[in-house]
Amino acid sequence: MSERSKVVIRGFEAKYYDELLNVLSLWQYPRFIKHIINRETNVNKGDKVAELGVGNGRNAILFANIVQDTGKVVGFDISEDMIEKARKKTKNFSNIEIVHHSILEPYPEKYRNFFDIAFISFVFHGLEDYEKDSMLENLKMILKPAGRFYILDYNQVDIEKTPFYYRYFIKKLECPLALEFLSYPLDENLKKHGFVLTKRYLHFKNLLSYSEFVLEKP
Ligand SMILES: C[S@@+](CC[C@H](N)C(=O)[O-])C[C@H]1O[C@@H](n2cnc3c(N)ncnc32)[C@H](O)[C@@H]1O
Repeated sequence: MSERSKVVIRGFEAKYYDELLNVLSLWQYPRFIKHIINRETNVNKGDKVAELGVGNGRNAILFANIVQDTGKVVGFDISEDMIEKARKKTKNFSNIEIVHHSILEPYPEKYRNFFDIAFISFVFHGLEDYEKDSMLENLKMILKPAGRFYILDYNQVDIEKTPFYYRYFIKKLECPLALEFLSYPLDENLKKHGFVLTKRYLHFKNLLSYSEFVLEKP
């Protein structure tokens, strides 16, 4: 991973990831992510869901409750600390599997054309552009034709027109790639890889976006 990125979470941050996120969001995050997955994602009973950068498994559990026993959630991550947390947190869910795998690399053969849905939250901005391209090309192999790909991340905005606290957060606390991501041509680049934008929801004064893309492949 690039040294300009902060998305691989280890150690203290991994141990207290949920708690840190809750505090940083003034306890709005749990309600927010439930809303995103339950209301803004077209996911149904029986679907197979890939979570790219699964973190500690909070989102995977929300998906697992929707897809139920006829569906499956596979969470991919490269941080041993996050994987350990995710496996512990999801141990009572027979429909969740946590896999040690970099989303920049080709996936095991058994996942080829396997997933109805892929979901990535707060990981995409932390990839260099060439890594985003690899991630998308590898994803295409495991999503079914017309599979849906959801990205939850920072929205593309003019940083100078955002509130001071957001400017401070992005410029001083986030990684350099996060700042660059604010001007990343998301829809155009996704289109180049065969993903067509079908829906977009904006949150927190348009600072975050949740986008649905559909994979066009023969
Ligand atoms: C900021 S956390 C987000 C976790 C989770 N998606 C969420 O929204 O709570 C980013 C996660 O992506 C994982 N990650 C970063 N780069 C990755 C890669 N190349 N392959 C797989 N996982 C990766 C990190 O280890 C970390 O768990």
